[in-house]
Amino acid sequence: MHIVLFGPPGAGKGTQGVRIAEDTGIIHIAMGDMLRQAVSEQTELGVQAKAYMDAGKLVPDAVVIGMIEATITKPEAANGFLLDGFPRNVAQAEALETMLSRHALKLDRVVFLDASEGLLVERLSGRLLCRACGFGFHRHYSPPREAGRCDRCGGELYQRDDDREDVIVQRLHVYEEQTAPLLDYYSHQPSFRRIDADGGMDEVYERLVEAIQNTD
Ligand code: AP5
Repeated sequence: MHIVLFGPPGAGKGTQGVRIAEDTGIIHIAMGDMLRQAVSEQTELGVQAKAYMDAGKLVPDAVVIGMIEATITKPEAANGFLLDGFPRNVAQAEALETMLSRHALKLDRVVFLDASEGLLVERLSGRLLCRACGFGFHRHYSPPREAGRCDRCGGELYQRDDDREDVIVQRLHVYEEQTAPLLDYYSHQPSFRRIDADGGMDEVYERLVEAIQNTD
């Protein structure tokens, strides 16, 4: 299976993507996580990306397109992949199509997570992540058992720099301007599905599994 999950910041792409990968054995490729890793390792690319990310803007296409091609062709992706956060504009979607056809691959599902704006801000401003294993929590919706500590590995929990309210507003603006046009790009393709991402995590997961499995 080759899947793309797209939707606004906070729609639940990461939350649901991790779960799909754990349940199916395909790999979860999260562009934002890859970029944050490059930032924390202070690679040349990470240094370049940081300013864009902190400002809530998209990192230049040339940078992210190069990173994705290296990832989808590695042996771990042989069973399939779920792309989360890529593509994020029409130029990236076209580049993805070209690279997939170069490797004789195609997208089986493109799923749009449709969530209302009020919820997005609430989800993002309450998000907590584990510094050690990256697992995600939410202050209210899925709080850790011990405050500030990851349930899975005991690592320290932190808030992302771009989950400050002013940066969230900018990210939503960039989404409307650059990522929302992907709806037009994908919605006429047979692989396209739209799901309501406003419910609880399990509810949204069930809808997503149904959207992936349903061939009608
Ligand atoms: P990225 O990390 O991809 O951020 P994003 O797209 O803004 O998405 P988020 O990770 O914020 O949200 P999500 O939909 O994954 O929500 P989550 O599941 O975590 O990108 C960050 C930056 O990197 C970008 O701004 C850009 O600068 C750069 N970048 C990345 N990709 C790029 C690209 N292709 N091109 C150029 N630049 C790129 O959920 C959020 C919270 O809500 C969590 O706390 C979760 O627990 C909670 N939650 C989730 N679902 C539910 C639910 N159903 N009910 C209750 N709570 C829920």
